[in-house]
Amino acid sequence: MSFSIFSRSQKRRARTVFLFLADERVYRKPKKSDIQPGMTDHRRYSASAARNRDPILEVLRGELPSSGLVLEVASGTGEHVVHFAQRNPDIIFQPSDPSTEALQSIASWTEATGLKNIRPPIRLDVLEQDWPVQSVDAVFCCNMIHIAPWEACRGLIAGAGRIMGSPSPLIFYGPFLRAGVETAPGNRAFDLDLRQRNPDWGIRHLDAVSKLAAEAGFSEPVVTEMPANNLCVCLRRQSAHG
Ligand SMILES: C[S@@+](CC[C@H](N)C(=O)[O-])C[C@H]1O[C@@H](n2cnc3c(N)ncnc32)[C@H](O)[C@@H]1O
Repeated sequence: MSFSIFSRSQKRRARTVFLFLADERVYRKPKKSDIQPGMTDHRRYSASAARNRDPILEVLRGELPSSGLVLEVASGTGEHVVHFAQRNPDIIFQPSDPSTEALQSIASWTEATGLKNIRPPIRLDVLEQDWPVQSVDAVFCCNMIHIAPWEACRGLIAGAGRIMGSPSPLIFYGPFLRAGVETAPGNRAFDLDLRQRNPDWGIRHLDAVSKLAAEAGFSEPVVTEMPANNLCVCLRRQSAHG
């Protein structure tokens, strides 16, 4: 018999607070019904990816080329890449992540969906100089730059600049701080939580990201407001960069 000092309602309240604070980090294990016979299933699930994948898809449709190779940085569970690949059959997607668990999850999602326009996931840490991909037609990255040191944002922009020509897009999705726009209470709490977990993490200022990108040869950002106080930010590689 199990014994707990917390009442049911206390547990429910604690879980609600945890889900709110954890937000982008809510993973659940696969259900038995998800697992196909003979498959070693490493699929992870993100509640937020299930919520935001359609609004992100809408933005990507307007920004991605109609064909070519598209790199996803920080693919996480792999749910985004399978969703986008299913709906863009003429694009080849290259998922990536530095985490072994993420790479396994992405591979399992790809296998489970049987999609042929997703390349096997590659280990890519944006902090490293040498990226295991030489040339792509677009890069997108969801929910990474606030859950990593500022150097990761710098590395992502520099790396994307190295492997893309003009006018290829670099697309960010996630929360941002904006000059002259009041930060939503949910984002303020999320920022505080991130900084408490790691002082080098935190929601980034859009102006700081844009400045870095301009220095690396990218255009002014095109900003799309997204549900839950997130943004999509699209920067295009410019040819004039020396
Ligand atoms: C919050 S998850 C986002 C996953 C997915 N893009 C999404 O939106 O559901 C953050 C991801 O960033 C990845 N990440 C952290 N540091 C990184 C780095 N230096 N280079 C590339 N990816 C990184 C983590 O491994 C993790 O998969």
